[in-house]
Amino acid sequence: MNNVLTIAMPKGRIFEEAADLLRKAGYQLPPEFDDSRKLIIEVENEGLRFILAKPTDVPTYVEHGVADIGIAGKDVLLEEERDVYELLDLRISACYLAVAGLPGTKMNDVAPRVATKYPNVAEAYFREQGEQVEIIKLNGSIELAPIIGLSDRIVDIVSTGRTMRENGLVEYERIVDVTSRLIVNPVSYRIKDNQIDDLVTRLSKVVSVED
Ligand code: PRP
Repeated sequence: MNNVLTIAMPKGRIFEEAADLLRKAGYQLPPEFDDSRKLIIEVENEGLRFILAKPTDVPTYVEHGVADIGIAGKDVLLEEERDVYELLDLRISACYLAVAGLPGTKMNDVAPRVATKYPNVAEAYFREQGEQVEIIKLNGSIELAPIIGLSDRIVDIVSTGRTMRENGLVEYERIVDVTSRLIVNPVSYRIKDNQIDDLVTRLSKVVSVED
């Protein structure tokens, strides 16, 4: 029996590249897919249902099983630590997580502060370095923090490096490379294994072609 597969797609930056990859893998996605405010899009002829989620929420939908599959950045997976399987590195939306700050500055000796959207990743990183820091959670425009004196350092995504450059920040350490991954709910993977294997096979062909 063929069940519908529900795929959680991240809205925003990754979306276009992820949709391109699905199309290259042969999935017929309707034009409304690219330009719609709809949050659920059924693609009946492919047996797929897409939910359009905030990128950081994708692993949550997949962990709870309301989406079978999801596309999520490695940054989000490291931060969220959800109970999902990572099936495939899609090798899209490449970027990395880094420690940055104002040039020529040291961390405060007494009370070093680090601003980030990734409190768990940042906490773990500085713990491994043997440094105790106060983490300040922000939700965006992280580069502001050192400039206006909220923190000594930031931990943030660097893609082109333009945001850091234009705001006069420099990179101090590179933490980890990031690409988008295909993730799956463990129970879905047992129940819908044929459909999911088919999706993975089709996607891995186009991923490796792009090597
Ligand atoms: C991300 C990230 C950096 C920027 C990096 O922010 O947090 O600020 O992109 O990209 P770049 O190296 O190409 O400049 P995003 O645009 O997602 O917005 P945010 O500030 O709201 O997090």
